[in-house]
Amino acid sequence: MNDRIGFLPISDFKYMPEISRDYEIKAHWALYCDNYLEGFHIPFVHKALNEVISYPEYETILFDHCNLQIGYSKNSAEVFNFPDNHIDFGKSVAAYYFWIFPNMMFNFYPWGISINIVKPISIEKTKISYLSYVWDESKLEGRAELDKVELEDEEVVENVQSGIRSLYYTTGRFSPTMEKGVHHFHTLVSEFMG
Ligand SMILES: [Fe+2]
Repeated sequence: MNDRIGFLPISDFKYMPEISRDYEIKAHWALYCDNYLEGFHIPFVHKALNEVISYPEYETILFDHCNLQIGYSKNSAEVFNFPDNHIDFGKSVAAYYFWIFPNMMFNFYPWGISINIVKPISIEKTKISYLSYVWDESKLEGRAELDKVELEDEEVVENVQSGIRSLYYTTGRFSPTMEKGVHHFHTLVSEFMG
């Protein structure tokens, strides 16, 4: 994490309760993680996000107990200003999405960070807490889309919850390009469950 975002003044990030919130969804917590960890749905579910994020460049990098998805910007949308010794110097990075096994997400944007904590309530109910910390208020405009993307995800996840109950549901192979993160998650779950 430090390699990517260590150049940011993390200690100056300010917690903003007014743009932080809790959501409750009617789905299993792992389905929420599944959705977060795959990029397949972006062009279908997030039309507006797909306008700014470059889908073909979308990338997932695996570490032992966490992984990183990188969102590259398609146009001049808000991107990070990297120092020249940065690992991604010269690239247009709009967001770093770090997932920490099993239930934490650290989403870094040019305006700051949004942390998601996924809390299981029951088999079909999950609470997600969004904590926003801002350091560059001038770039906050780029954040407006986030709530919309979140609601789009929640709707999809709740639909998946009812979909997996269907008699017609079967599992399939993971996509090596778009489901690297989901595969990683499921491998860790089975490892930890013995
Ligand atoms: Fe999504």
